[in-house]
Amino acid sequence: MTNAVLDLLLQRRSVKLLAEPGPTAEQLATILTAAARVPDHKALAPWRFVVFEGAAREKFGAALADILALEEKEPPSSVRLDTERQRLMGAPLSIAVISRVKETPGAPEWEQVLSAGAACQNLVIAASAMGFGCNWVTRWFAYSPGVKAHLGLVDHERIAGFIHIGTAAERQPDRKRPMLAEVVTRYQ
Ligand SMILES: Cc1cc2nc3c(=O)[nH]c(=O)nc-3n(C[C@H](O)[C@H](O)[C@H](O)COP(=O)(O)O)c2cc1C
Repeated sequence: MTNAVLDLLLQRRSVKLLAEPGPTAEQLATILTAAARVPDHKALAPWRFVVFEGAAREKFGAALADILALEEKEPPSSVRLDTERQRLMGAPLSIAVISRVKETPGAPEWEQVLSAGAACQNLVIAASAMGFGCNWVTRWFAYSPGVKAHLGLVDHERIAGFIHIGTAAERQPDRKRPMLAEVVTRYQ
């Protein structure tokens, strides 16, 4: 029996080299709608999305370079600063998933953070189902106080990841996957 959803889940892997085209506005709306449709204890929507596309990617790269220069003890090399300036230019579209925990009786922080992770993965699966390549990363800038301030994150907000989306420019070999025997036990 073939099943497209199962095939996708069983074959998905990250694509690091991405090219144009990225999702259209309509596809992006579908991807974000899927990302917002995740299990969510007490329906708090404990996540939000920041979309980077077009010239905004360059603007964010310039901010990354400035923030890095302020946050590093040693002045970063010009090569490193260029890397940061280009950081989002390798994909037509990137989406930052922001975990936003709302203190709520009965909905522990852990569960709200898990829901943000689920939003990340739904986003990846939806974009992959449209035929795009995706890559979910955090890197230094997901944890940088300067970057968080630049993006307007408030208390209880954290970056769950940047999901880069585009057309796969190459297919890398798959990585080793865990054997089920290593990760599955049966309660007896
Ligand atoms: C929360 C999170 C953060 C990640 N951050 C990075 C990162 O900063 N750099 C990186 O190379 N991979 C990062 N990864 C791993 C990649 O997303 C990717 O899953 C992995 O490199 C390849 O596995 P895959 O083909 O199953 O996606 C991260 C994964 C998760 C879940």
